[in-house]
Amino acid sequence: MHPVMAAYARHVLVCTGQFCSPDRRGAQLYSLLPQLLQDADLLFSANRVKRGETPCLGVCESGPIVVVYPEGVWYANVTPPLLERIVHEHLKAGKVVDEAVFHRLGGENKV
Ligand code: FES
Repeated sequence: MHPVMAAYARHVLVCTGQFCSPDRRGAQLYSLLPQLLQDADLLFSANRVKRGETPCLGVCESGPIVVVYPEGVWYANVTPPLLERIVHEHLKAGKVVDEAVFHRLGGENKV
């Protein structure tokens, strides 16, 4: 028997580790996600976004780090206002917030 998974459009991961943001900004950022996703109608709709927190994404500087799949787009130095932009522009409208991206799946770092 297999579990049942409802369709979803994207998966967003937030690093809540202590190395990329020692002052726990990642954890604070992650706590904002449910309401932001709810406000954008991305929690239960057909194009819903799954979310997760992780203790490390292997970057360990310039955090909080946020990554969005399936695009494999990596954001650095994510603040609450930037997270709101990521939710509305990337997760909702499908337009990557290019100026905050430092890496893409299969590509080189922009820096
Ligand atoms: S602690 Fe955040 S990337 Fe390693």
